[in-house]
Amino acid sequence: MKIVVLGATGKLGRQVLRGLRNRGTTGSEIIAAGRDLAKLSDQDSRAVRVDYDDPASLRVALRGADRALLISGTEPGRRVTQHAAAIDAAHQAGVGLLALTSTPNATGAAMSMAEDHAATEALLRDSGIPFVILRNSMYLDLFVEQTVPVAVTRGVIVGASGKGRISPASRDDLGDAAAEVLTGEGHAGAVYELGGQRSYTMDEVAAAIADRFGTAVEYRDVSAGEFKDVLLGQGVPERMAELFADTQLGIARGEMLVDTGDLSRLIGRPTQTLDEALAKADLR
Ligand SMILES: NC(=O)c1ccc[n+]([C@@H]2O[C@H](COP(=O)([O-])OP(=O)(O)OC[C@H]3O[C@@H](n4cnc5c(N)ncnc54)[C@H](OP(=O)(O)O)[C@@H]3O)[C@@H](O)[C@H]2O)c1
Repeated sequence: MKIVVLGATGKLGRQVLRGLRNRGTTGSEIIAAGRDLAKLSDQDSRAVRVDYDDPASLRVALRGADRALLISGTEPGRRVTQHAAAIDAAHQAGVGLLALTSTPNATGAAMSMAEDHAATEALLRDSGIPFVILRNSMYLDLFVEQTVPVAVTRGVIVGASGKGRISPASRDDLGDAAAEVLTGEGHAGAVYELGGQRSYTMDEVAAAIADRFGTAVEYRDVSAGEFKDVLLGQGVPERMAELFADTQLGIARGEMLVDTGDLSRLIGRPTQTLDEALAKADLR
């Protein structure tokens, strides 16, 4: 079995590699592909440099692959072309199963962030390659990496998601789900909506952070326009600020709520909760 992970050098990709190895896949069976191979540890697997903007590198990485995972790229606007090149290379290589990371409700959500994902899902379906779509919810880790430091320092979290509920999931759990799909049977054609079992409003996130760190934290709901201005003030580029503000409105509409139970079923255990993630947070 030869399994190629495109985007293996990223935070999710490294969890997928860990999940594969935990399932007994050997280093020689895994091709870990990304741009910055220095992010991979020696024992991970065979590393291959790949750039989604370079179709030839994708063809080389996917040659002889039985199964592959395409972890979506990081540049909204460029991603559909990049993903199309990866799907085309997988088709040429005769890959037997191609898994793709996507976003919750990709084909039904109105938020702009879903557009690249919906377009990529359509390309994958049309490719004729046996596929699995992993519609990954918002990372729980982002609350620890991004929200906690701001909340604890300033005592306030600003957003525009109202009372919308999010079902965040850890990269650890999502990486395991991808590894399960890549090594298991019976997943071809599946579209998994992968979220944590518990959902939260941002008021609840603020309360959980306040409880955990023993400090006052409030969630301040503002309009999407005000939220975008806050991001611009923090130096976030215009295009990304627009996208993030629009995502807040999607959350408010319930587009990031996932209640399928697919994630816990795939990984065979309860999903990580916010309290568990916060317990691991290191504020130093
Ligand atoms: N669910 C969520 O909350 C959420 C949040 C943010 C992003 N995402 C999506 O989920 C993906 C994985 O998340 P993550 O946390 O693992 O992100 P990450 O740590 O930034 O990793 C992104 C991965 O994509 C690779 N990549 C990006 N552009 C590429 C290109 N042109 N050619 C080759 N490789 C490229 C990166 O390679 P190098 O690092 O080697 O360059 C890296 O391996 C992201 O790329 C994004 O599409 C999801």
